Amino acid sequence: MIVPQREQCNEAVAATDTVGRFLRAFHGGTQPLSTFAARLDAIGGDTVKVGSTKHECVKSGVSLSAFIGRDQQLNVLDGLLLRVTEGGGKPGKALLMRGRPRVGKSRLVEEFLSRAGVPHVYFTASTRSTGEELRLFVEEVRGSSLPGADLFEGVTPTSWDGALRLLGAALPDNGLSVVVIDELPYLTRSDPAFEGTLQKVFDRELSRRRMLFIGVGSDLAMMEALNGHGRPFYQRATEMVVPPLSPAEVAAMLKLDPANVFDAYLVTGGLPLILDEWKAGASLWEYLEDAVASPTSALLVSAERALTAEFPAELQALEVLTAIGSGERTFTNIGRAAGIAQPSLARALGILKTKRVVAAELPLSTRKSSLTRYQVADPYLRFWLAFLGPYLPEVERGRGDRVLARLRTSWPSWRGRAIEPVLREALDRVRVGTPLLGEGVVGGYWTRSNDPEIDIVIADRQPIAKHILGIGSIKWLEQAPFDGRDLARLVVHRSQLPGATDDTPLIVVARAGCEVDGVTAFGPEDLLNAWLVRPD
Ligand SMILES: Nc1ncnc2c1ncn2[C@@H]1O[C@H](COP(=O)(O)OP(=O)(O)OP(=O)(O)O)[C@@H](O)[C@H]1O
Ligand SMILES: [Mg+2]
Repeated sequence: MIVPQREQCNEAVAATDTVGRFLRAFHGGTQPLSTFAARLDAIGGDTVKVGSTKHECVKSGVSLSAFIGRDQQLNVLDGLLLRVTEGGGKPGKALLMRGRPRVGKSRLVEEFLSRAGVPHVYFTASTRSTGEELRLFVEEVRGSSLPGADLFEGVTPTSWDGALRLLGAALPDNGLSVVVIDELPYLTRSDPAFEGTLQKVFDRELSRRRMLFIGVGSDLAMMEALNGHGRPFYQRATEMVVPPLSPAEVAAMLKLDPANVFDAYLVTGGLPLILDEWKAGASLWEYLEDAVASPTSALLVSAERALTAEFPAELQALEVLTAIGSGERTFTNIGRAAGIAQPSLARALGILKTKRVVAAELPLSTRKSSLTRYQVADPYLRFWLAFLGPYLPEVERGRGDRVLARLRTSWPSWRGRAIEPVLREALDRVRVGTPLLGEGVVGGYWTRSNDPEIDIVIADRQPIAKHILGIGSIKWLEQAPFDGRDLARLVVHRSQLPGATDDTPLIVVARAGCEVDGVTAFGPEDLLNAWLVRPD
C-alpha cells in the first residue's frame, strides 16, 4: 500500500501537536475518531442521534465508489474537531474549505462526518431566493441528527439571523456537533448581509458550543476573500484548500506501476470523478479507448462543465486557454492565437491566474528576466484542451477512434512537455535523503530564442537567485534511458546558465533509467514517493 494508513497519519500528528496529545491520552493514539466522539457525547450527557442525514438521503440509490485517500485533509479536520472538544470559553471553530469544482470537497466533508459520527447538519445552498433557501435550510435541520432538530418543527424563520440563532439552540449543550454550509458563495453573493449575519451569530452563539462550522465553496477568490482583511471572518476561520488527488493517491486507486501512474495523472489531473471511470489495473490506452468512445464520459464532459461554471463567456477565458493549451506560451503569441487585444488578454490571464487555472513562470537563474511563460496549471485541463475539447463533435458522431489515433501519434512528445511541471513539483517535494535539494526552489530556465531551454534549475530563491544549487534534465521516454549524449547536452546547458559553475550538481529525471554516472538520478518511483515524504 503506497498511501500511508490513516492510523499512521494519526500517529504522525500525535507526535507533534496538542491534538495528538489529546488523542493519545484517550486512545493510545490510533483509535478512530468516531469512537472518541461517541464517548464524548456520552460524557456530555446529551441525547444524540448519531449519523448522517442529507448525504445519505441524496445519495440513496446511487452507488458511490469507495472513498480514496485524503488522509492529510481528514487529519486536519479531525484535529479541528479535537480542538473544539478541548477549547474552553468559546470552543466553537470555523473552517473555510475551498477547491476547484469537482475536486472532491463535498465528498471529503461527507467522509469526515461519517467517520466522526457526531451530530451534524449538512446544508447545500444554491441560486434560489432567500425565502426558498431558508425553507430548505429549515427542512434540512429538521431532518438532521442535531439533538434540537425538533425546534425547527413548524417554524419558518424569515431571515438568516433568525434561522442561524435557532440553529444555535438546536446544537447539543455539551457534546460535539458539526454544521456544514456547502456552496457558501451562493449565499454571500445573493444576500450581501449574510456574511455579517453568520459572523455575528457565530461569535455570539455558535462559538460558545462545541461545534465546528464548515463553509465550502468552489469559487476560490470568493472563499479566499471571506477570510480576508476587513471581512467578518478575518482571522476567525481556518482555511483548507482541497487539491485534486495526488499522484500517490492515484497510484493507490488505480494499482498501476509508478511510470504509468504519472500517465494517468496527466490525463485525469487527479480528479476523482474521472478516476472513478478508470478500472483499477487498466492501462492508459485501455482506459482512453472506453473514455473517448462515450460522449458522456467524465473525461470528456468535466472540463466543459468546470469552464462554464467558472468563467463567464465574455471573459474569453476559453479562447485564452485554448491558445495556451495548443502550445502558445508567451503573452504576445497567446494574444495572436486567441485573437484578443492586449487589455482583454491581460484581464483574462489575471483571472485565470487567480483561479490557478493558468500558471505564469519566469526563468530561474541569477540574472533578471522578464520572459514570462504561461501554461495551463491543471493537468487534466491541459490534456482536454490539447486532445478532447476541439474534437468533441467527432466523439459525438461516433468517431472516437480518430481522437484516439491523434492521441497515439502525439502522446510521446506531448507527454514530454506536459510532465515537466508535475516532475518539478515532485522534485520540490523531495526532501529526505537529498540535502542538495533541501532548501532550494525548483524552476526552469529559457531565453527568448529557447537556446538553451533548461528543464530543471534548483536555486536558493526566486525569481532572481543568489546561488544555483543544481541543474537538471528530464527525459521521459518509455524506452530510451538518459545516456551519454544527454549528459553532454546537460553539461553544455550548465555552462550557459547564469550563476551555474562547473561544480553545480547535475540532476537527471528519467522514466526509463539513467546510464551515466556523476549525476543524481530520479526515476518514477522516487518521484511518486515524493508525495508520501511530504503529503501536504
Ligand atoms: N476521495 C474520493 N474518493 C472517491 N471518490 C471521490 C472522492 N472525492 C470525490 N469523489 C467523487 O468525485 C465526484 C466529485 O466530488 P464532489 O462532488 O465531492 O466534488 P466537489 O469539489 O464538491 O464539486 P463541486 O465544486 O461541483 O461542488 C463525486 O462523484 C464524488 O463521489
Ligand atoms: Mg460540492
